Amino acid sequence: MAKFAKFCKDMGFIFQSSEIYGGINGFWDYGPLGVELKRNIKEAWWQDMVRNPPPGPDGQEIRMVGLDCAIIMNPKVWVASGHVGGFSDPMMDCKESKKRYRADQLMVVHASTAEFPIPRAGEPSDIAWAFPNGDEPAMKAAVKKLESYIKKHKIEANKVFKPLLSLGSPEVILAHVIGPDVDVPGTLTEPRAFNLMFESHAGPIASDENKVYLRPETAQGIFANYKNVLDSSRLKLPFGIAQVGKAFRNEINPRNFTFRSREFEQMEIEFFCHPDESMKWYQYWRDLRKKWYSTLGIQSGNLVPREQGKEELAHYSIGTTDIEYLFPFSDEPQELEGVAHRGNFDLSAHAKHSGKDLGYFDEEGWNALLQTRLEPFKDDKAKREEEKKKLEKEEKARFQFVPHVIEPSAGADRFTLAVLCEAYSEDSVPDAKGGTETRIVMRFHPRLAPIKAAIFPLVNKDGMDEAAKELYRELKPYFNVVYDQSGAIGRRYRRQDEAGTPFCITVDGDTMKDGTVTLRDRDTLKQERIPKGEVRARIEAALRA
Ligand code: GAP
Repeated sequence: MAKFAKFCKDMGFIFQSSEIYGGINGFWDYGPLGVELKRNIKEAWWQDMVRNPPPGPDGQEIRMVGLDCAIIMNPKVWVASGHVGGFSDPMMDCKESKKRYRADQLMVVHASTAEFPIPRAGEPSDIAWAFPNGDEPAMKAAVKKLESYIKKHKIEANKVFKPLLSLGSPEVILAHVIGPDVDVPGTLTEPRAFNLMFESHAGPIASDENKVYLRPETAQGIFANYKNVLDSSRLKLPFGIAQVGKAFRNEINPRNFTFRSREFEQMEIEFFCHPDESMKWYQYWRDLRKKWYSTLGIQSGNLVPREQGKEELAHYSIGTTDIEYLFPFSDEPQELEGVAHRGNFDLSAHAKHSGKDLGYFDEEGWNALLQTRLEPFKDDKAKREEEKKKLEKEEKARFQFVPHVIEPSAGADRFTLAVLCEAYSEDSVPDAKGGTETRIVMRFHPRLAPIKAAIFPLVNKDGMDEAAKELYRELKPYFNVVYDQSGAIGRRYRRQDEAGTPFCITVDGDTMKDGTVTLRDRDTLKQERIPKGEVRARIEAALRA
């Protein structure tokens, strides 16, 4: 991952935040290519989920609207949602170094078995070893296993063994591996709950009454505005509210490049539906969300939906599917998105804490029922009234309910990281001297590619540079394109391959005669001559594919 992070930095995809001051753990900046890539991801999500979602399970139109809520909300929101009381990780401090560890990620492996299991619900790269006092053969066996783990994961061996050997005490040894870094904590404190919400104060006085939180998820802004959206848009169930925005979590151990950051962006949907239809919608969103990643170029083999086991589910959740991706930093797929059936937990909690009625009355459904059931008594007013009263008593409650919610919650940064990992490839291409050379190519789906096309003059003379600039200006209002006239043409191609640009368009001597250009395909390396006027349509077709 360190090599990959360097490539991302050198190319201008991702930089460490505040790097000139030594950086800050868990915070990242997107460079010129990265910001385009992440914007394309968020825009693709908004277009495909909010503006143009595919038809629902029964072929019906899906109603979706968007929201953009404040990052800081009334702190009562976080009391109602359960974040103030329970959004915490168990933390242990090393008494000597004062370093902090997530207790649930420290795995103690007994020397008798000397296994190094990877915890499913935890972090795969965090492993601890415990060797019981004096059990030399067991220790040797464990060290052997450790050696092969180190080799497989290309960890620098002395980072592990030096601290292990220097300990030499008859105590249990714990090693804590975070990616390529290995830590051996000393004596640890008892685990204690550490709330992950960042705190601040609204107003000039830093008092408890003024305490506020940076939102740890965008979802609660949607629930808090559910009634506003319903009243202002006259939407009928089922419908969804979507939001893209920053979230903040004071993670104890941010790691694996941007995978676990302290500031990140989420793309969340809360889909409100009738309780009786909720399982149908849960399946719809689960399947749709998995498919979405594949249509944007993620190979299905690397994409794994995983239904959470009963023991993993949040207490209110009826079902949750994690859509996981096999990142190169881990042997186990890691969560990109969770699709959760949250029942009516959130709306009920906010109704209780705010004192507002967040129930839903299906007026249309109720009126339709009245019409059919009262039809036989249309000429008998008394009978009709009697039947109506009966229906009100026995049936009306069915139409007044707290909606159930299906929540597909994705991470924009995690998906950006997955797209970068998936796109990266090295292949062999012919070089200028008739041999071959290795090229790095980012095989982004054209829709996500930061630059859609690069326009080159073959040489900067005979009007070619002017003609190439003209084509660049023609395409610029529609796509992110670049103009590059510096260096040998082969080098210019390589630069664009590394940026993941799907097309390179070269203006040469023939262009000046017949108005055609060469269009080079990043993946096949095929070069075609096409009329200048067709370039725009070719790029558009690739974006739709
Ligand atoms: N509203 C539900 C919710 O927030 P979550 O599983 O905690 O659920 C949803 O987060 C998604 O947000 C995750 O699947 C992941 O993509 C992203 N995410 C969560 N914590 C993150 C972190 N520390 N760094 C980067 N992305 C994170």
